[in-house]
Formats: sequence, structure tokens, C-alpha cells
Amino acid sequence: MNTPKILVIGALGQIGSELVEELCNQKGKENVIASDIRPENEVEIDATYITLNVMEKERLFEVVQKYNIGVIYNLAAVLSAKGEQNPMFAWELNMQGLFNTLEAAKEISHLTQIFWPSSIAVFGPNSPRIDTPQYCVMDPNTVYGISKLAGERWCEYYAEKYGVDVRSIRYPGLIGYKAAPGGGTTDYAVDIYHYAVQNKPYKCFLREDTMLPMMYMEDAIRATILLMDTPAEKIKNRSSYNIAGMSFSPEGITESIRTYLPGFECTYEPDFRQKIADSWPMSVDDTDAKNDWGWTPEYNLDKMTQIMLENISRKYPQTSSIG
Ligand code: SER
Repeated sequence: MNTPKILVIGALGQIGSELVEELCNQKGKENVIASDIRPENEVEIDATYITLNVMEKERLFEVVQKYNIGVIYNLAAVLSAKGEQNPMFAWELNMQGLFNTLEAAKEISHLTQIFWPSSIAVFGPNSPRIDTPQYCVMDPNTVYGISKLAGERWCEYYAEKYGVDVRSIRYPGLIGYKAAPGGGTTDYAVDIYHYAVQNKPYKCFLREDTMLPMMYMEDAIRATILLMDTPAEKIKNRSSYNIAGMSFSPEGITESIRTYLPGFECTYEPDFRQKIADSWPMSVDDTDAKNDWGWTPEYNLDKMTQIMLENISRKYPQTSSIG
């Protein structure tokens, strides 16, 4: 069977840029089309790239037809912290973007599979915070979390009502060195490494003991492609799967950095993002993902710290004391 053509929407973002690279490796560069809202002449990417705004339904349908797309990864979203600055825009982009891709899968027969990311933000202050189960009280109180929870329900609805093969993961905070995160509550865990390699102190916007579920990007990309490659009959959950990688606090990541850079200093000045973090799980139970499609993480905090410091220090050759 021919490899289906894959469209990645939001390909220039934190997840998208790493996912495109890995999909090109695994599925062949000729089968991957990267898209984002930036104009083609402003973008440098080692893949076929087109400009696409996921809010424009007709253009999305045109692209799916023109390139004979079989699989969409729709990663375009406004994240938790940024969403609170402009709630209506976050709601529109997160929901309309999802509807447009689900409708395309319902209407266009060669578009057979959709990936849509959800988040630990679907949980709220009344959810159990330790080993948060797959199914429990869900009362998110950020616009991002509300849009992701509503989106999960719509994914399941389209799967059950129209037979759309849509799959989803509730990502924890994602940490990678290749692309910057875009306005989330967990972004500190990327920024902190950039300060550390430059020998600068870091001022963290969360309290030192704020434990959150996190994951190294390579694990997240592996989970995503593994979920999409699993035979459909094994996917029992059509809303979104909990997956766990590691959990740590700002204090914990600071300690981990200090094993390589003993002089590193972190101070704490919590802002509005503290309340968001306090409403999220500290760790999640991912038994269903393990049982249904064989999920296992490979990275822990110290392994990730070593890789992050080594790679980020190459971006700052003048100031770095690593490598
Ligand atoms: N990393 C995301 C955020 O902080 C959580 O999905 O918004």
C-alpha cells in the first residue's frame, strides 16, 4: 500500500517543527506537507511548505483535495497562558480549527486519519492531582482547558457518529531544544535551560514546589507517531489518552541543572500562571495508553537535562560553559 500523504498544520510551532522532521524521516519527505500561517517566502524548513490558516475551511478542503491528503496532524492552537490574554480568540482558533479538520475527514473520503492534541489542561481544581486518572472529575478553568475538553468530546462524537478515525493525546508540558514553546504555563522548563547555559540567573514565574507532569519532546513525538501507527481496533479511546513522562517542580529542575552547572541560580516570582498550574495534575495515570498501544517513556529528568544543556549550549557559543 502507498504511504498516505500527511499534512501537518501548525508545522512551525514547538511540536510541529520536530514532528515534521521525524515524519519526513519515517514516512519519506515526499509524503509530508508542512503548513502554517507564515508566508512561504519567510519560512526556512527542510520540507515541502505551504501557507495555510486552519480557520479558512474552504482553503483547507482545497489543500486536502489538491495534495491527496490522507492524514492530518492539526497542531494549531493557542496555549494556556496566552489564551487567558485573549479568551475569545483562543476559543475560536482551538475549536474552529478542530471542526474544520473533523469536517474535512467526514466529507473527503481519502482523508482517513486525524491527530489532534489535547492537554493536561483538561483537568481542573477538583480533579485528583496525583496519578490523575483517565476518567475523573474534569472542570478546567482556563479557556485553553475548556477548549481542549470540548474538543475531546467532539473528537469522540465524530468518531462514533461519522466513523472519523481521530486520535488524541493529553500532552504534559513539553520540553525540547529545537523550537521555542508558544505561551504555555510549562514554558519555564524550556526557558530555564537557556538562562543556565548562558550563566544567567533565572526568575521563574511559578513557585519552587509546583509539581507538574512534563515530557521530553522526543518521547512526545514517539508517542504521537506510535498512536497514529497503531491498528484502529486497538484504539479504544476516541477522546484523548493520558500519557506520562516525568513530573518535577522548578526546584527539581534547578537541582538537576546544578549537577552540571553548580553555580546556577533560580529565583521565584509567581504570576497569574501559578493559579493555572495549581489547577493541573502533579502526575497522571497513563495505564490505558500503556495497555492499548504500548506507550512507555524513555526519558527522565536527568537524562533530559543533559541533552538540553548540551544542545542549547551550541546556540550560545560565546557564553556557554558546557560542552
Ligand atoms: N504546555 C501546555 C501549557 O502550558 C499544556 O498543555 O499550556
